[in-house]
Amino acid sequence: MLTSVASAVRQSTASVFRTATRAMSTKAVETTVNGMPVKVYNERGDQRVIVTKDLPGQRWVDILAYANCRVEVCTDPQTILDNGKIKQLIGDKCDGVIGQLTEDWADELFGALKKAGGKAFSNYAVGYNNVNVPDATKHGIPVGNTPGVLTETTAEIAAALTLAAARRVCEADVFMRSGQYQGWLPTLFVGKLLQHKTVGVIGAGRIGQAYAKMMVEGHKMDIIYYDLFPQPKFKEYLENYSKFCGANDERPIKVTVAKDPEEVLKVADVVSLHMLLDKTTHHFINKERLHMMKEDAILVNAARGPVIDEVALVAHLKANPEFRCGLDVFEDEPAMKPGLEECANAVIVPHIASASLWTRGGMATMAASNVAGILSGKPVLPQGSYVLDFLEEPLGSPKMEFTPSIVNDKDLGLKMA
Ligand code: DGY
Repeated sequence: MLTSVASAVRQSTASVFRTATRAMSTKAVETTVNGMPVKVYNERGDQRVIVTKDLPGQRWVDILAYANCRVEVCTDPQTILDNGKIKQLIGDKCDGVIGQLTEDWADELFGALKKAGGKAFSNYAVGYNNVNVPDATKHGIPVGNTPGVLTETTAEIAAALTLAAARRVCEADVFMRSGQYQGWLPTLFVGKLLQHKTVGVIGAGRIGQAYAKMMVEGHKMDIIYYDLFPQPKFKEYLENYSKFCGANDERPIKVTVAKDPEEVLKVADVVSLHMLLDKTTHHFINKERLHMMKEDAILVNAARGPVIDEVALVAHLKANPEFRCGLDVFEDEPAMKPGLEECANAVIVPHIASASLWTRGGMATMAASNVAGILSGKPVLPQGSYVLDFLEEPLGSPKMEFTPSIVNDKDLGLKMA
């Protein structure tokens, strides 16, 4: 009996997978829709989903096709689409959108999406400071984001910026390329050893913790961190690691939970920012707080540009040549504040923290799963849930029967898993 039930389940699962394969038509057709250039996947899909920029990987297309969506990917060459073009893309019938962190998703766009019958939006990012969530909620549109797949990749860039700043990697690279290297010298590009110095983390959420572990375990740095929440498990992890070091002929690391962020700024040799951008953190690093830091400290930002007053930072970098910074994000992105590009003590990269192939493909899968999940009426997972099944499970598997991450789920009273 049991055997025949199991075999029936297997057969029905197999038929779901066959249906999934049938529903998919993953070849793209280049065309123009509403006067905008697009490539279309699964042309005969019932629900129209637009994607404002092409995304890496294939799984995200398969997920949307499996949910019976016609997927239109905009191929307009403008790097950041303006609202006019996005509204043109939405047109008068659009069920869902995957948008970019560079776009301004507020009343104008959500109003246009609602009017076109839109029911779902996902940002292609974990951060959503470009999305006015109350406006989306007002129009009844769920807003998805892509947590869980950026953590290590973003932490790695913060670590890379830290190392590059400490060891003057970019200055030395420019020197080498410009043919200035005449031979080894005891004084050439002398930088800072991180081992046994103190790393400071402000915002000890997922990414902050991953970065901290890289610096503590990889470079045996002491740590001081501040977070709005106590993060007891993280503290216990660090304390256990410290004991492990002690038990293995290594110097135990010192773990300090700061009472306020200023304590981190005053004590740390390296300060990495991992907070969300909102009204309370806008220009968190300003002239006064820069002056609290050590003269030869390293400041790292792979969070959001406006958490630093960049004009104050440029002045500080110029006045303190031993002070260094590593920046992945900028206040007026894509622009930099005047003078930053002249500062050899700044390492600057163009918002590439999540730019590993695995992560960018994973973000696409998460964003597609958000839109497909809402359009198919799948219950929403609680925030903070494990989401990596969406990257690996076969389409149609019971673990895919959810919507991974909707930030206004409660406000909209969505069905929860
Ligand atoms: C995000 O997802 O918020 C990142 O900034 C993208 O790199």
